[in-house]
Amino acid sequence: MPGSSAGSIVRVSGPTVVAEGLEGVALNEVVRVGRDGLLGEVIRIRGGQATLQVYEETAGLVLGEPVDATGEPLAVELGPGLLGQVVDGIERPLDALAARTGDFIVRGVMHPALDRQRRWHFVPRVDPGDQLQGGAVAGVVQETASLVHRILVPPGLSGRVRAVTPGDATVTDPILVLEDGRTLSMLQRWPVRQRRPFLRRLTPERPFLTGQRVLDVFFPIAAGGTAIVPGGFGTGKTVLEQTLAKFAAADVIVYVGCGERGNEMTDVLAEFPRLKDPRTGSPLMERTVLVVNTSNMPVAAREASIYTGITLAEYFRDMSYQVALMVDSTSRWAEALREISARLSEMPGEEGYPTYLATRLGQFYERAGRVVPLSGDGEGAVTVTGAVSPPGGDFSEPVTQASLRVAGALWALTTDLAHRRHFPAIDWTQSFTLYADRLAAWFEHEVGEEWASLRQEAMRLLERERELQEIVQLVGLEAMQDQERIVLEAARLLREGFLRQNAFHDVDAACLPAKSLAMLRTILHFARRAAASIERGAPLRAILAAGLDEPLLRLGEVPGERMEAAGAALVAEIDDTLARVGGR
Ligand SMILES: Nc1ncnc2c1ncn2[C@@H]1O[C@H](COP(=O)(O)OP(=O)(O)OP(=O)(O)O)[C@@H](O)[C@H]1O
Ligand SMILES: [Mg+2]
Repeated sequence: MPGSSAGSIVRVSGPTVVAEGLEGVALNEVVRVGRDGLLGEVIRIRGGQATLQVYEETAGLVLGEPVDATGEPLAVELGPGLLGQVVDGIERPLDALAARTGDFIVRGVMHPALDRQRRWHFVPRVDPGDQLQGGAVAGVVQETASLVHRILVPPGLSGRVRAVTPGDATVTDPILVLEDGRTLSMLQRWPVRQRRPFLRRLTPERPFLTGQRVLDVFFPIAAGGTAIVPGGFGTGKTVLEQTLAKFAAADVIVYVGCGERGNEMTDVLAEFPRLKDPRTGSPLMERTVLVVNTSNMPVAAREASIYTGITLAEYFRDMSYQVALMVDSTSRWAEALREISARLSEMPGEEGYPTYLATRLGQFYERAGRVVPLSGDGEGAVTVTGAVSPPGGDFSEPVTQASLRVAGALWALTTDLAHRRHFPAIDWTQSFTLYADRLAAWFEHEVGEEWASLRQEAMRLLERERELQEIVQLVGLEAMQDQERIVLEAARLLREGFLRQNAFHDVDAACLPAKSLAMLRTILHFARRAAASIERGAPLRAILAAGLDEPLLRLGEVPGERMEAAGAALVAEIDDTLARVGGR
């Protein structure tokens, strides 16, 4: 019987424990380990022994201590009260834990993710007599100023409504009674390792706007798509993921801080609650959930944290929201997997990672997507961006390689650019996106017809620069023709004035596509006109000395609403200036 199977500890090895006597226990079942009742999960059953990964510090466990099966898989609580929360990898709220124990590292303390006392104002969307299906919207709660929480009928459940209770209720109070007597509350649970069902998948055809020019213009991803962000130490992975959390076009943000240094997460925990939502002016946390498992917290809970994160994301997707999930860093998750695998004495694959690393990564990223939820109302999406931390910035290592095979886009950060303080340090020669063709129509229709042609022209300019740079390496800049040097200058303006973007500047931090397009138009106008002037014999020196680079390099600081006018004025100035320096 579930919950009744009692076993005892026969071995303790770091985060894993072996128990005997757990008759009938199932793989992935949650167990309580030892006298303190530490939370664990069954990860292997063999020859009457069950191997458990324990989500809490195992030091001090003694052989012979009891282990109890719960009959349940590892699951998270879903319902009003998630937004604004900071939880660990198994969804325990950090502040409640800290308040109870005075420390983040606690053992055997179960604290529910959702506040049992807090009352929410439930407004039903169904009437007695209605037939309900799993996933239907039973009602709504204005959870925060930023978001209406749609109360969903749990997937798999259906029935006819007998009675509805509107008004204030806790998450466990009954809000609906079905004709067969079953009751529904606002709280539901979902096993984290299982993807939540939906009606059908939609093809990704709208962009997930990030607010980063280099991404939105050159390497855009679709809403419901996936991108990986590999980069060596200090190349800006965390700053980029946090910038996305702040500025990307999403209704809900789920940010998974996975195995990074404690102090890095402390920055996030200190910074996020102070951030203003650029869309509403209210705190960003009102539409954010943070899942935090730093490097000093138990390794098994880190392994679980990405599943907890994506389950939360799917839940909001099922309310027909656009959800963005950031994971920083998937490498630390893979290291947790490796450590647990080693404890199991499994046959190691490349660099000690288990052979199923790629499969697991694939299963995780596959949970991203744009779907029609079970409710049939509109659409929802989960977009995933996962940071990868390859040791030494070497992308040939297993985690980067396995991630590359399943992701729709690569946003490659390089040490070279970071050292030159070119941020975001996204290398345009290595990065790619599989979504560009699908999204082209949206950009042309919604932003401007010249989108694709300007994008191409800009990419050609960068390509041309790369070729010329190789020659410069050989012969030196002085030996270059003026026609080539003006190309190098235009490419520099494109790199420094457009691709580069200051995450810490009020205006420049985020950029809408319309502004990106106007910037591109202006910079490329200079590129063409300056090249034409040289052709007509204008002296390079005069063009370089005309001071046009100043305003072109500062376009990013022009507020979006003034960009169109500022761009047009600059275009006129470019024409005047170039006419003056001669070459006619
Ligand atoms: N977009 C940006 N704009 C300005 N500065 C940036 C930007 N991105 C990164 N930086 C600078 O680079 C530093 C390192 O960035 P970050 O901490 O994000 O790197 P990381 O790749 O996460 O490093 P680690 O490998 O240690 O996790 C930042 O503290 C900041 O000074
Ligand atoms: Mg980092």
